[in-house]
Amino acid sequence: MNEPIRFFLPGPTYVPMDARQAMTKPLMGHRSAAFKEIYLSLAKRLPHVLRTESDGMIATGSSTLVMESAIVSLVKKDVLHVVCGAFSERWYAISKALGREADKIEVPLGQAVDPETVRAALRRKKYEAVALVHNETATGVMNPLQDIARVIREESDALVLVDVVSSLAGAPVETDLWQLDLVLAGVQKALAVPPGLTVFAMSERAYERGKTVPHRGFYTDLVRYRDKHREGGVITTPAVSLCFALDVQLDRILGEGMEARWERHRKLQAKTAAWAAERGIEYATAANARSWTVSCLKPPAGIAAADLTAEMRKRGFTLGGGYDAWKSSTFRIGHMGEVRASDLDVLFAAIDEVVACTAS
Ligand SMILES: Cc1ncc(COP(=O)(O)O)c(C=O)c1O
Repeated sequence: MNEPIRFFLPGPTYVPMDARQAMTKPLMGHRSAAFKEIYLSLAKRLPHVLRTESDGMIATGSSTLVMESAIVSLVKKDVLHVVCGAFSERWYAISKALGREADKIEVPLGQAVDPETVRAALRRKKYEAVALVHNETATGVMNPLQDIARVIREESDALVLVDVVSSLAGAPVETDLWQLDLVLAGVQKALAVPPGLTVFAMSERAYERGKTVPHRGFYTDLVRYRDKHREGGVITTPAVSLCFALDVQLDRILGEGMEARWERHRKLQAKTAAWAAERGIEYATAANARSWTVSCLKPPAGIAAADLTAEMRKRGFTLGGGYDAWKSSTFRIGHMGEVRASDLDVLFAAIDEVVACTAS
C-alpha cells in the first residue's frame, strides 16, 4: 500500500486500493454458499477487532441505524444519555423521536465526561440503559469509557450502550473486559472501509433483555440480527461489495495487530499535538480529553478555519471542517485508519505553507 494519503477527514477515511478494488469483484447471491463462506470468515475475525468472545455482527446501514436499533430493541422506557457533542446529542434525539423517556446529562463541548456525574445521575433515577459516545468526532473528545462503564456497573444494572464509531480499531475498546453491552461502529472511520456497513457486538444480557422488549421493528431488531447471525447469515440483503472490502481490511487490521494499531494512532495524535504546539496552534479540546483518532484545532492566527480548509483543498488535501456549534471556530484532522506518520509530515508542511502565504 504505497499510495500517499492526502485525505484527512474524520470519516469517511482513506480506503486502500486493494480494498477499493475488492469491491469490483463479481457479485454473488447473499444466500449462496460462496457468500456464506465470506460471511462466516468475517464473523470469525470481527470479534478480534471488537474484543469479544461473543458475536461480531454486521448491519447494512450507517452507524445511525444501529444507534436507533439499540434503543428500539433494548430500551422499553427509561434511558440515560451522556451528551458531550453532536453525535451523543443525536443519540438522545433518536430516543426522544422513538418516544422513550430519555434524560441527558451534558458536559461542555471539548470536555470529557466525568464518570462521577454519571454516578450521580444513576443515583437520582433508575434506567434500563445508559447510552454514550466513546469518541466524539465532532469535538475530538475521547471519553474515559472504561471508568464510565465501571461506574454504570457499580451503580445499576443498566445496559451499557456505546458508540465506538470513531474509536474502534484506533484506540482501545475492550468490549468484554469493560463489560460493554452493545458496541457499534460504522466501518468508514478507523476500519478504513467505504461507508455503508456497521459492525457491532451485543452481550448475552442485552440479547435476553431485548427479547422482552415489544415492537422492535424488523430492520431495527437486534435480536433478529443475533438469531440470523447464529444461523450464519444476515437479516436482509447485505451490501455484498462492501463485505468484500471489509474482508480485505480485516486481514490488514489483524495483520497489523490491534495493540500495534492502537499504538500507531496514539503516536499520530502525539505527533499532531507536538506540531500544533510548535506552531502555537491550539487544541479546541481539553488537554485530558484528546482523541487518538481526530484532532480538533483552532485555526492558526490570521486565517479562518474555512479558508484554511479551502486553501488546503486547492493543494489536494482534504481536512475536516468544524462541526455543528464549532463549525466556524475549528478545523479537524482525522488521523485514523491507514494514516501514517509520513502522511502527517506532508500534511503539516502544506498547512505551514498556507499559513506562511497568508502571513506574507
Ligand atoms: C461518533 C459518531 N457517531 C455516529 C455517527 C453517525 O454516523 P453515520 O452518519 O454514518 O450514521 C458519526 C458520524 O460521523 C460519528 O462520528
